[in-house]
Amino acid sequence: MLITSVSPSLAHSSKKSSSTHPRLSKKLPRLPHVTFGNAQWQPQWKDWIAKCGDFFVGKYYQLKEAHHPTEKHPETGNKYQQMAAGFPPPRPFQPFLDAQAKYAIDPKNYAYNKYQGEPYYRQALAEHLHDRFNITINADTQIIPTKASNEALFDLLKDMDVPTINGQPAQTWLPSPGYDTYNIASKAGGWGINTYSLSNENPYPYKGNPFLFDFNKAWGDMDKNAQARIKLLVLNYPNNPTGATAPKEYLNDVLRFANEHGLLVIRDFAYADTYQVDADGTPLTARPASMFELDAAKDPKAKLVEMHTFSKSMLIPSERAGYAVFSKALTEKHPDEPFAFSQGLLEIKKRRDATGPSYVFQKSLVDALKDKEGYRAFLQKENRLATEKYHAVRGILEKSGWDILGDANSVCPYYVWAKVPVKNMSSEDFAIKAFKEASVGVIPGAHLTPDGSTAGEGYIRIALSSNPLNKNPNNGEYTGPLIEAANRLAKLKGS
Ligand SMILES: Cc1ncc(COP(=O)(O)O)c(C=O)c1O
Repeated sequence: MLITSVSPSLAHSSKKSSSTHPRLSKKLPRLPHVTFGNAQWQPQWKDWIAKCGDFFVGKYYQLKEAHHPTEKHPETGNKYQQMAAGFPPPRPFQPFLDAQAKYAIDPKNYAYNKYQGEPYYRQALAEHLHDRFNITINADTQIIPTKASNEALFDLLKDMDVPTINGQPAQTWLPSPGYDTYNIASKAGGWGINTYSLSNENPYPYKGNPFLFDFNKAWGDMDKNAQARIKLLVLNYPNNPTGATAPKEYLNDVLRFANEHGLLVIRDFAYADTYQVDADGTPLTARPASMFELDAAKDPKAKLVEMHTFSKSMLIPSERAGYAVFSKALTEKHPDEPFAFSQGLLEIKKRRDATGPSYVFQKSLVDALKDKEGYRAFLQKENRLATEKYHAVRGILEKSGWDILGDANSVCPYYVWAKVPVKNMSSEDFAIKAFKEASVGVIPGAHLTPDGSTAGEGYIRIALSSNPLNKNPNNGEYTGPLIEAANRLAKLKGS
């Protein structure tokens, strides 16, 4: 629409002046229709939005209240409990905040900076990897700082060249159910999508475990054309939404399989530091392993990218703090390519972003990581709380006959992954029921299921992370909104 009149105040001032200001004498163009001469230009988003479709965004998220709840449910009077999104609790590692406060007041820290981050920053990340996983990573060639993991996963999948195989786009092989970005970004990038099941109905369970997919076996049952289309495998352990964790032996077998068939493996390691601990802070099972610890990672053919983030560990999701680690093969430039694969992520950044991570952020993270003891104690405390929450909620639901999936003592305690507790009800209908009748937001498994799969249907994901857990000091019993919400959910169990 064109603006044909000026606002009263502007009109008033223009009347007063002897000559009308040239800008005010013109009709001002305004979006959504911008006038260029006589032509009208209708702004359009690139068609990748259309390609992404309404997966996830158009469905459950139409229940806007689920993310922007009113304080109390108008009919039941219950306080709304957000258990849909896995928001980290608002308690970042204090030394990071202290460092931010220190560096934020120095004017020198506000210049544009390097896309790959400062050498001291990458060095601190490499040292952190060494301390945590006992691996040696080259800070200059193998680490690229990213905007946490989501954007980096998106960049990789969307901007990679998709080969055409027998007239069809090559495929990504995605976990189903799985984190929605893999599916959205694969579609945006023009990949075909193949899925592997992580549900109870997984036709290729690895050593009988349905949350681990036996790629070797599935591959053996595929015809050559189907095999040829698959070029890229996304792995996510500890897993969202099932909470499943993967032993080293399994990860090694998967990487060996990928090496043998020339597949690129993208390991989303968002929950690297979320694991169950006992009352003393000792891990109940082995802490999640980096895939760079594996023998298969030493194979010079290994094409592995591991995505790390501080969103869920240091509890700083707004900082978009992460980094990608590349295997050596991906850092080598081939004669017929303009740059090495790892460099591609930087090349995207150079063309799109004006700058790399801020100095305030880099310096603060480096300082925070120097406090190794403090960080270890912080993770222990957070993981103990997560463990208690997980068992408290699981216990309440199981007592009412809910079927909670996964081994209670080894799953990542961030989410409860449950079978829809009402017979023949879809996961989406149950999520709506939970919202309306219990004032609790949960995610339907169908919304975490990539195209062409139904593996998440029949399940729901309950996020525990952002909900506090209170303890009655007199009897030690758990109380508070998380427990109340779990009790309300428990009552929804139907036959
Ligand atoms: C499996 C998984 N990957 C990646 C992310 C994105 O986290 P961030 O981009 O903040 O690192 C999440 C967030 O919930 C997740 O669950």
